[in-house]
Amino acid sequence: MRITDTSDLWWKTAVIYCLDVETYMDDDDDGVGDFAGLARRIDYLADLGVTCLWLMPFYPTPDRDDGYDISDFYGIDRRLGNHGDFVEMIRTAHDRGMRVIVDLVVNHTSDKHPWFVSARRSRTSPYRDFYVWRDEPPKKQEPTVFPGEEAGVWEYDERTEQYFQHVFYRHQPDLNIANPRVRDEIAKTIGFWLALGVSGFRIDAVPFLIEPPEGVDIGDPHEFLRDLKRFLQRRVGDAALLGEVNLPYREQLQFFGGERGGELDLQFDFLSMQAMYLSLARSDPAPLIASLTSRPAVPPEAAWANFVRNHDELTLDKLTDAEREEVFDTFAPNDSQRVYGRGITRRVPPMLAGDPRRIRMVYSLLFSMPGTPVLFYGEEIGMGENIEIEGRQSVRTPMQWTDGKNGGFSHAARGRLVAPPPEDGYAPQHVNVQQQRNDADSMLQFVRHLISRYRVSPEIGWGQLRILEHDGRGVLAHEVASDVGRMIALHNFTESPQRVQVDIGAVEDGTTLVDLHGPDRIALDPRGKVDLELAPYGYRWLRVSPRGDTRIG
Ligand code: GLC
Repeated sequence: MRITDTSDLWWKTAVIYCLDVETYMDDDDDGVGDFAGLARRIDYLADLGVTCLWLMPFYPTPDRDDGYDISDFYGIDRRLGNHGDFVEMIRTAHDRGMRVIVDLVVNHTSDKHPWFVSARRSRTSPYRDFYVWRDEPPKKQEPTVFPGEEAGVWEYDERTEQYFQHVFYRHQPDLNIANPRVRDEIAKTIGFWLALGVSGFRIDAVPFLIEPPEGVDIGDPHEFLRDLKRFLQRRVGDAALLGEVNLPYREQLQFFGGERGGELDLQFDFLSMQAMYLSLARSDPAPLIASLTSRPAVPPEAAWANFVRNHDELTLDKLTDAEREEVFDTFAPNDSQRVYGRGITRRVPPMLAGDPRRIRMVYSLLFSMPGTPVLFYGEEIGMGENIEIEGRQSVRTPMQWTDGKNGGFSHAARGRLVAPPPEDGYAPQHVNVQQQRNDADSMLQFVRHLISRYRVSPEIGWGQLRILEHDGRGVLAHEVASDVGRMIALHNFTESPQRVQVDIGAVEDGTTLVDLHGPDRIALDPRGKVDLELAPYGYRWLRVSPRGDTRIG
């Protein structure tokens, strides 16, 4: 059997959709989304074509970092429901052929976690060594992840007169993964949620997680990640690990387990995401091309997770200072739209001045770049951020279902909502699911269509990338090809129409190009040269279809 015949590598062709239960759908009208609400929206997600949900943290939490500060790894935040509601939601998703992965945030706990409460009670606490303590912070301190909000990564604990490490907020003490008991607890947590039916995890802050405390030798830190992957596979053979690793490609390769694999199955491609914004700012695909072509070859089971927006700031940390300024100037001209000196707090449509041509071109790119696309909830309807909310929270407003009260998210009073929807041109009256469902030209129907085309084009997930030569300006022409098929895609980064002659290389007689977004069937000349028209910010997907091809377009 050929490896590409197997469907157990489901993440290679998945459509992943990230949501926060708290902001998705409120069933009991207390102003906070919940599992019962989400269960009622599974049919919507299935209809959209989503194949895997990624749930942001839903665990008990003091909620000082939107749930990324967890006080019980096995629990469910009571506002969102209980384990019964969780399992019902999973069952409903499975029934519609959809998998669910959940955030695994084990680099740190909340300072309210019973382990830390005990650990800081005395130096002899049985949990003391679950965390990282020092008499003095090291001379050379790592910079904080949250400049402006935190000064450093060591916090003094008055009672026990030592410092503890926190790479993120001071209320998120780092777990000590050099301690085998901590590793066992992490494995147990994984085992627990797998037993409840999840298909894998989005692992938070992976490079920080596997890094041992300074001065502690644990051998190769990647051994820990390999252990986790082996454990996961023993429990559920086709469960997957999606990792947050924002590092240069050659380091990311190590987090896949090198060319042999065995660590993360998927990693977000932070570099191409950032390069894409630079390309958009310049109306020139060159930066994106440079990034995509410098991706290292990864093991066949592994995949890049493509995204254009996530729940955090849109980080531009891997661009040069000058490039970052260019993107800032173009897409976040006001200081209030920036955070931490490196990121943007806006969603895609407002950044692109609401221009539907450009917005659609971006999502066409997302779904045609080699890899696995990841959507952040609300992108499919073109939601904007709430400009009244500062920092990363601005994009975490409730899903907009209708033009009614609170966008149909909840019947609670607006003041009780977990976050207020925007009140500008992106308010629920203007942007909502209900309206777009009945409008064939809407963003929602467009994304739904993109997903359906992506799902009949497994070469996007499996294929090798090749940048195609052409004589045009400002156009990205790329091919994804594998033994499951071959497709070319064109994206016009400019606001003028383009006519390009693309060279796709010699083809067999009788080969046609099948337009996956329209009725065109273009007979190819055997030299593989073809003239194509692109509208301003236009895009095309063309399947290279040999004579006798039985795939439908
Ligand atoms: C990750 C999450 C972010 C969170 C941080 C600390 O970067 O994406 O939202 O604040 O980890 O857990």
